[in-house]
Amino acid sequence: MAAGQTDPWFTRQALEESEQKFRALVEQSITGIYIIIGDKIAYANPRCAEVINYPQNALVGMSLLSLVPETDRAEIAERMRRAYSGEEKTQRFDGHLKRRDGSILDFGANATLINYQGQPAIIGTLQDIGDRKRAQEREKQYFAQTEKAMLGTIDAVSAMVEMRDPYTAGHERRVGGLAAAIGTELGLSDSEVKGLRIIGGLHDIGKISVPAEFLSKPGRLGAAEFEIVKTHSQNGYDILGTIDFPWPVAQTVLEHHERLDGSGYPQGLKGDAIILPARILAIADTVEAMASHWPYRAARGIDEALQEIEKYSGIRYDANAAAACLRLFRENNYRLEAKSIIAGTNTRRVHGSFLPSMRCGSMETLFIRQPARRHTSLVRTRFVPQLRHLRHAP
Ligand SMILES: [Fe+2]
Repeated sequence: MAAGQTDPWFTRQALEESEQKFRALVEQSITGIYIIIGDKIAYANPRCAEVINYPQNALVGMSLLSLVPETDRAEIAERMRRAYSGEEKTQRFDGHLKRRDGSILDFGANATLINYQGQPAIIGTLQDIGDRKRAQEREKQYFAQTEKAMLGTIDAVSAMVEMRDPYTAGHERRVGGLAAAIGTELGLSDSEVKGLRIIGGLHDIGKISVPAEFLSKPGRLGAAEFEIVKTHSQNGYDILGTIDFPWPVAQTVLEHHERLDGSGYPQGLKGDAIILPARILAIADTVEAMASHWPYRAARGIDEALQEIEKYSGIRYDANAAAACLRLFRENNYRLEAKSIIAGTNTRRVHGSFLPSMRCGSMETLFIRQPARRHTSLVRTRFVPQLRHLRHAP
């Protein structure tokens, strides 16, 4: 034999050794491995057979599509077409296969186009991902449950604040609804929009530390009283600051009375120093407040509220958010949510404190002079379609 030539016996032996190593690796792999020619299974390793629950030999020659549930068949056929045509030589996908006992296997697979024994074939791996999917499902349910509990808690807190300030029943929820709608109009993400709705429901939580008499006073507040009411932004921040929300809830609550020109409170922030959710909330809060009845005045109506936003757009209010709000009402026919958050019909004020019994829906608020009572007037709210009377108590 000439120098430099390899003995064919050694070459054959090396090949056989290499094939044995490869076969051992594939046969003992804890991942299912398969080869498909056309739509027929040409090879399935023991793990693949175990996962599909067929004897290894029985799988060879079977049509892959015969193992695929009817609902997934078109998708798998399309995947095979794309693989063989070279459109998508390598694929990663999840799907379902019918096991021999009729149960359904949730699998995750890889597929790559190769040349096998002189013809195009698909080689790939197959794994049972049923446990993983079930764990993900449990995680999803747990997350949904936690979120539901969180939203329920927020509603309860919101209702608690409103119990002290019954005139504004539904204010926070309506502000949250409008802020979310403005966020959607601005193209914010679903999560950011959800955050705005939640922040709206909590934005006046700091009023819990403001005397109820100030909140429901049937007349304008004095300067000192107003200073106390203004502390609700900081109080809200202090209450919510320790909760780790996925949104800037506390910061937004702190800044929801700030105005672009620095005329707001508590810090007199200007322009972009006010975070976007707070700039959105400021508009929603103003519109809702102006459109609703308050202890000291009748509703000024939605048209006047929108005129206010338009007038101060870019001055007090974020121009983009203001434009989005105006579009919502004037072009998209947006309406504030119905004013009913706690079922009921009336609220009585006795000796300076409110006793909320039942409240609901569109309410007429009557301030009735009660000479017999030295402390205060009787305040009553009741169902009527429109507010026709509003008398200020002395
Ligand atoms: Fe506020």
